[in-house]
Amino acid sequence: MSSRARIPVTGRAADTVLDELAAMKTPDTDWRRGRVFSLVYHAGDEHERLLQRAHALYASANLLNPMAFQSLRRMEAEITQMVAGLFHGPPSAVGSVTSGGTESILCAVATYREHARAQRPVFGRLGHRPQIVAPQTIHPAFDKAAHWFGVELKKVAVDDDQRVRPEAMARAIGRRTIALAVSAPQYPHGSIDPVAEVGAIAARHGLPLHVDACVGGFMLPWLERLGRPIAPWDFRVPGVTSISADLHKYGYAGKGASTLTWRDMTWMRHQFFVATDYPGGIYVSPTMIGTRPGGPLAAAWAALHTQGEDGYLKLTRAAIDAADRIRAGITAVPGLALIGRSDTTIVAWGAAAGGPDLYAIADRLEARGWSVDRTQHPAGVHLTVTANHLAIADDYVRDVAAATAEVRADPSLAKEPVAAMYGMMAKIPVRGLVKRSVRQLFERMYAPGVIVPDATAPADDAVGRLLDKHGAKVDAVLDGVDRLRARLRRVRTRGGRPPGRIPDGNR
Ligand SMILES: Cc1ncc(COP(=O)(O)O)c(C=O)c1O
Repeated sequence: MSSRARIPVTGRAADTVLDELAAMKTPDTDWRRGRVFSLVYHAGDEHERLLQRAHALYASANLLNPMAFQSLRRMEAEITQMVAGLFHGPPSAVGSVTSGGTESILCAVATYREHARAQRPVFGRLGHRPQIVAPQTIHPAFDKAAHWFGVELKKVAVDDDQRVRPEAMARAIGRRTIALAVSAPQYPHGSIDPVAEVGAIAARHGLPLHVDACVGGFMLPWLERLGRPIAPWDFRVPGVTSISADLHKYGYAGKGASTLTWRDMTWMRHQFFVATDYPGGIYVSPTMIGTRPGGPLAAAWAALHTQGEDGYLKLTRAAIDAADRIRAGITAVPGLALIGRSDTTIVAWGAAAGGPDLYAIADRLEARGWSVDRTQHPAGVHLTVTANHLAIADDYVRDVAAATAEVRADPSLAKEPVAAMYGMMAKIPVRGLVKRSVRQLFERMYAPGVIVPDATAPADDAVGRLLDKHGAKVDAVLDGVDRLRARLRRVRTRGGRPPGRIPDGNR
């Protein structure tokens, strides 16, 4: 435990502080070289400098009061209008800029709950929990929103191509359902849910449909213009009532900027929160946060204006070329297979049935200097491919092939601690155990006096203890459970009985 940091008694020189800030970056992930496939969307150093300058101009401005900061309100209105146009919204379309995808989704879930309560006052009372139906692959921001706002998130299984089946969504709708949500595309594998079909179902049931285009909102329109076959996903689908889309992803804005767009004000009016009794005056707020920072808004506005349509088309062409090259390269490696569809600039791959251990390959890739995002159910590797990755696409494929060959030659690499841990975490059926273990990690990270937890310290949590002491045995038991499940499935299928469905207790 380090000693507690404190405010210096006398202020330090600005240059020294800035130098220290710059030096602090040293251990951070180096995203400029294209060896990281998430978190940062880099459109080049010149664009980066523009974002910094625009941000600096409005670093202290606050959109909490749009009359005091009319400049910021103007930027928000203009961004909303540009986005509504890009997504083929009707003239009635309205929206707001938020701090990120999660905030956009929190606002959408809270708004649909408020709308449902206004329509049917019984919702949210007497234990009558409103419900949103969404695919299993929907972003965890929906779980967070559901958890915080007393909404049940009913998840629907997806197909092998990682898209939800419209009939499965329809079957999940019950009396408590207040909205449907799908992704365009979902983050882990880049597959676009069948928005048009689900939109028709939503319209038939008189339900609203949210499209989470946080990662796709500033990628799909340009892919479509480049001639890629993109199924309808935006306001052209009549059932779509709202869309979340992040400027700070493929909009190449600075961090802290997303959008939530509504088909019309009949929905958005339920997003506004008003407190009338506050001694500080009447308080009104359109989004989750109170103070609304001007810097990210100005940087996003500047990004849209400086890139323009031609800039975004160029960035998207580079990103999809890189993604296609990576996909072709991975497909050519024996033992590997793509996961999901190849519609977008997101790539996901894993080991083919009977192929080498995926998590061991991931370790060997990391040893070659790549930052690897491991996914689960199924085990895979995720890449958010951007324009910045065109220069390294071939290097990446070469290293994946080499890492795979290494694991084929020495399968015992799957027993190395990191690969074994991911393998185990993915398999542990008791998700509560995993949740407790991850919470404990964060309790250590946020403990008093701690700045960065010691990652090499022995695990003192349930899953850690399980892995340390009984890893091999637990692994064998879980394999046995998997085999039993597979046998059960085979017996069921042979018996001609359709796989059982858990009864829906909501109806
Ligand atoms: C599809 C999707 N939805 C929501 C989010 C959440 O966005 P944020 O991390 O900006 O809160 C993400 C982030 O990756 C995403 O890909």
